[in-house]
Amino acid sequence: MKEWTREERYRELHDAEEVRDLYERISKSVYRQTYHIQPVTGLSSDPNGFALHKGVWHLCYQWCPWGAVHGLKYWYHVTSTDLIHWRNAGIGLKPDCFYDNRGTHSGSAISSGDDLYFFYTGNHRDDDWTRTPYTCAAVLGPDNRPKKLEKPLFGPRDDYSEHQRDPKIVWNEQKKLYFIFIGAQTMDKRGTVLIYKSPELLKGWTFAGELKVPGFEKFGGMWECPYIVNISGKDVLIFSPQYTKLPGRAESTNHNVYLIGAMDYDSLTFTPDGGYRYLDFGFDFYAAQGAANVGDPDKAILIAWIGLPDNHYPTEEEDWEGSMSLPRELRLKDGRLVQTPISGIETLRDKELTPDGTLPAACELEVCPADGDFDLNLFAKADGSGGMRLHYNAATKTCTVDKTGMDKRFNQSVGEVLDMPLDTPLKKLQIFIDRSSTEIFANSGEATFTTRSYPTADEFHYTVTDGASVKLWTMTPSVVDDFVI
Ligand code: FRU
Repeated sequence: MKEWTREERYRELHDAEEVRDLYERISKSVYRQTYHIQPVTGLSSDPNGFALHKGVWHLCYQWCPWGAVHGLKYWYHVTSTDLIHWRNAGIGLKPDCFYDNRGTHSGSAISSGDDLYFFYTGNHRDDDWTRTPYTCAAVLGPDNRPKKLEKPLFGPRDDYSEHQRDPKIVWNEQKKLYFIFIGAQTMDKRGTVLIYKSPELLKGWTFAGELKVPGFEKFGGMWECPYIVNISGKDVLIFSPQYTKLPGRAESTNHNVYLIGAMDYDSLTFTPDGGYRYLDFGFDFYAAQGAANVGDPDKAILIAWIGLPDNHYPTEEEDWEGSMSLPRELRLKDGRLVQTPISGIETLRDKELTPDGTLPAACELEVCPADGDFDLNLFAKADGSGGMRLHYNAATKTCTVDKTGMDKRFNQSVGEVLDMPLDTPLKKLQIFIDRSSTEIFANSGEATFTTRSYPTADEFHYTVTDGASVKLWTMTPSVVDDFVI
C-alpha cells in the first residue's frame, strides 16, 4: 500500500491537467462502476449537498483528487434529472481559503426561492495541526458552480471537542425558522448533535442547544453526518455513530443507524419510539444523506457512501476508491423504514438473460427462494467454489453473508461475515451488481445489505438452491464517467 506524506495528501489541485493521466489510467480499471456515481479521480466518500432545485438533482461527494487517500477534501458535483442518469459537473467546492484550508468537509443543501444553498464544514487547521471547524455556506451560481460566502456563518463552540461538523439544514414551517444540525462530540467524548437556528439562510445564526435524545446519551463517540426528515408524520433521525462497537457489526467501529420518533424544536428533544436500527446490514454503508425538497410527505430519497472510514479497498493499488450507493426511496411501514431502489431503475434493464449460472459484470438479479433454508453464492468460480455466500436460515429468519471465499479479501480484521435479520420469511432478493459493488434488497426493502465486491476474472458464476426462481438482466450504463474538473 502506498504511504502518503501529509504534503502529498493535502496538495491543492490548481489545474485539471494535473489529474488527467490519473483519470485516463483508472478509466481502464475493470472495477469502474457503470450505473453508480464514483470519483472522477482519486477517492470519493460521503454524499453532500443532495437536493432537487428547479427540476435538477444536485449531489456532491467528498473528493480527494490525488489517489485512494483521505486528504484535502473537495466537493465534487454531479447532476441528474431522474436520479438514475448522472453527469459530472466539475468541482463543487474548493478548499482555497483560510476557513477551509484543510478541506471542505461534509454538509447539505436546500433549494429556496431561486437559489440553491449549500452548507458545509470548513476544516481549518493551524500549522501545528490544531483543528477549527467552521460552518460555511455557498450559493449555486449561474455557471452551475457553487460560490462560497467569504465568511463562515459561525465557528465552533469551545465547550465541545474539535469534532463539530456536517451541517444538515432544515426548514421548520411551524416556527418559521431554519435549523442546522451539526454532528458533534462532547468534551468527554460522547457523540451528539448541536443545533443552531436562524430566520434567514445566510445570516442570523445563533446556538439553540444540544439535541437531547433520551436513551442515547452514551451512544458512540461522535455522530457524523446527521440527517433528519419527516416521513408520513414521523421524524426520522439518521446518523453515523463512530468509535464504538455495536451488536451484530463484527469488529467495525463505524455504523449508520436510524431512530423513528418525534422532534420537538422547542425543547430540542428527539423522542424515539423505540431502539435504534441499522440503516443497512452490509459491510460498507456510511454517511447516508437524504435529499431536501422531495415533495412527497410519505417518502424520502437517500444515498450513501459504499465504504467506511478507516477501511481500505483493493483499488487503492490503482489509485482510486469509492462509490455512491444507488439512491433509495425511504418509506415507513409498521414502525420501520422500508428502503427500495430508486423507482425507474428498472428502465436500466437491458437484456433479460436466461439464467445459466453466469453473472454479467453489471446486472440485476431477482431471486425468489422456495420456503425453507436457502443458499445463494455470488461470484463463485465455474465449479461453484469460492464466492460471496448468502445463507438464509428459515428458523431464525436471518440471511448471513460470508465474503471469505472471494479471491480479493479486504478489511478482514473488521469482519467478513455479517447477518441481515428479517422480520418476515424471506420471499425475494433484489440484487444490484455493478463492477465493484453489490446491493441486496430483501423482501421489497424490509432490509438491505450493501458491500463493495471485487470479483476476479474467474469469479463470475452463481449457484442457488433448487426451487428458487431467478431472473437476470444486464444493466445499461447510466453514469457518464467523463473528465470534467
Ligand atoms: C464522514 C466524515 C465527515 C467529514 C468528512 C470528511 O465520513 O468524517 O464527518 O465531514 O467525512 O471527509
